[in-house]
Amino acid sequence: MEQIGILTGGGDCPGLNPVIRAVVKRSILEGWQVIGFRNGWKGILDDEFMILDDKSVSGILPKGGTILGTSRTNPYKKEGEAERLKKNYEKHHLKALIVVGGEDTLGVAHRLVQEGVRIVGIPKTIDNDLSATDYTFGFDTAVNVAMESIDRLHTTAESHNRVMVVEIMGRHAGWIALEAGLAGGADVILLPEFPMTVGEICEVIKRRHARGRTFSIVAVAEGARLAGGDEVGERKLDEFGHVRLGGIGQAVAELIEKKTGFETRVTVLGHIQRGGSPTAFDRVLGTRFGVRAVELVKQGKFGRMVSLRGRDIVDVPIAEAVKQLKLVGKELYELARIFFG
Ligand code: F6P
Repeated sequence: MEQIGILTGGGDCPGLNPVIRAVVKRSILEGWQVIGFRNGWKGILDDEFMILDDKSVSGILPKGGTILGTSRTNPYKKEGEAERLKKNYEKHHLKALIVVGGEDTLGVAHRLVQEGVRIVGIPKTIDNDLSATDYTFGFDTAVNVAMESIDRLHTTAESHNRVMVVEIMGRHAGWIALEAGLAGGADVILLPEFPMTVGEICEVIKRRHARGRTFSIVAVAEGARLAGGDEVGERKLDEFGHVRLGGIGQAVAELIEKKTGFETRVTVLGHIQRGGSPTAFDRVLGTRFGVRAVELVKQGKFGRMVSLRGRDIVDVPIAEAVKQLKLVGKELYELARIFFG
């Protein structure tokens, strides 16, 4: 029986299991067997895998996370690992490998494609920062979690006449903070793409309070900086060289309280945004991506990634997706600013 492989790499996100389920079910129609490598690239390096059949994907559609496990393993980090990975890959005589990942995992996929490995990519990340696709799955769920949190913060902020700062994930891109802030009616949204000074932030809050409001919500993307300042995070790097971001919310909250005299609290949403059941949008997108990825394997279209363009699923070179980060543009940010204060 012919086999294809699949792995999920990088940070997990809601929608991975719908992708795995779709890949397995579509492959069964071709008479192919799917082998799932465990924990991202690590699974191929250690040759750790599981056979995925109809039974193994039963009931996983609404489940968050990934039944395959994931990791931030970078096979190009250590001498000889990429060669070992390729040897293990060839041993299985796979038709192709479906790689589900974000910037880092697909970056590795891109290098492997250049070295002759048969790969089809599927874009995943709550950050929505991959180029060449309008949306990645996982993003919609994260936005909804963050929006609901902002809704909840409103009622307690109002009761206590407080400023509430909420720190939102997204790494160097402000997509989740922007959309959750817009949908939740945040009074200020601080993004990595558009730094503000503390003075500007406090001005918005003071103007609002002068109009009779007694509370404010400030949405801060974890990768945001105050104008002239640096990103805030631990200098501990992962295998792809990324810092662990976090702490900008606390820093901004302290400055707001000091400058305005308004009592200020901070909430860090953290991994809550990545956990739990995917929204209908992410389940459907993941399902469509998974089905199309198998069809690309059937057509021999390797080195391609499935992508959402408008309402259509298309395919693009993996190279396009990893060329540069997709960041929030000025037009959308200016729209958000209309609602500041
Ligand atoms: O890329 C997804 C993401 O959740 C980012 O928004 C965040 O900065 C990072 O992963 C956190 O990574 P970890 O799960 O390794 O703490």
